[in-house]
Amino acid sequence: MIDLQTKLVGLIGKPLEHSLSPWMHNETYTRLGLNMAYLPIEVLENDLETVINGIRKMNFIGFNVTIPHKISIIPYLDDIDPLAKQIGSVNTITCCNGFLKGYNTDGEGFVSYLETSQGINCSDKVFLIMGSGGASRAIAMTLAARKAKKIYLFNRTIEKAKQLASEIMSYYDCICQAKNLDDTTLKALIKKADVLINTTSVGLYPNIDQTPVKYDLLSSHLIVADIIYNPLHTRLLQEAKEKGCGIVTGEGMFVNQGAKAFAIWTKQPAPYSMMKRVLEEKLI
Ligand code: ATR
Repeated sequence: MIDLQTKLVGLIGKPLEHSLSPWMHNETYTRLGLNMAYLPIEVLENDLETVINGIRKMNFIGFNVTIPHKISIIPYLDDIDPLAKQIGSVNTITCCNGFLKGYNTDGEGFVSYLETSQGINCSDKVFLIMGSGGASRAIAMTLAARKAKKIYLFNRTIEKAKQLASEIMSYYDCICQAKNLDDTTLKALIKKADVLINTTSVGLYPNIDQTPVKYDLLSSHLIVADIIYNPLHTRLLQEAKEKGCGIVTGEGMFVNQGAKAFAIWTKQPAPYSMMKRVLEEKLI
């Protein structure tokens, strides 16, 4: 039951209809008997400041941030964790007496799952990343920190990819190149890549018939990862599997980042296995 003692957390972004964070968190709180509630709050870009100022005045202990606010929220924060600052994107925020501090749990959440699920060592691999938004920033910076051999960033808006590539190279000794989204370049560089990662929203529910990389361009030597978890087997992953590629679904990153947020907000170890089980009950 929600009462005056209920600690509020939530998710701000738009759209949120695909998100299973409210389910995963609320169901976990219920099973653990915690007096907490996780609210989905759809926020348009122009309303971000107003909503943030409202949250400061309410009994929120924190919240998650998703598309499209992970970068644009930074100026409204009072403090930022050094890793999130370097990444330039925030997906988890703590709120204490109106004081907001931002963290990023996306990069470590994704890369640790990639390493464990595929048994790979990132340090000798060439990565091709689709997208250069908040999630891409987190993943690319974390891969560079793991000494990735080379990172190619493909983005619809090339300026964003160039900016991210130059930031990564200013922090790490890693070759990172921005590339235009065209099939000829993609085909040539897929041949050189070991792992292809989709960080764009292309293929996200309800647009499940879309894919960021055409079937003909995929090749069996690749490991293909998608950070989308709804649907779990995106068109990209279905086609990659058909081509004989190793595939990595978005579930691992999703549970990892959610578990890290739980630990940050409650200052308790996260019930990782329970959160994973709860999510799997809902996934298609
Ligand atoms: P997130 O925080 O989840 O990464 P984001 O910062 O809004 O979300 O980034 C979304 C990414 O998906 C961006 O790289 C975006 O490309 P632009 O930088 O050109 O906007 C990419 N993206 C979204 N819709 C896309 C589409 N239809 N085709 C190609 N790329 C798309």
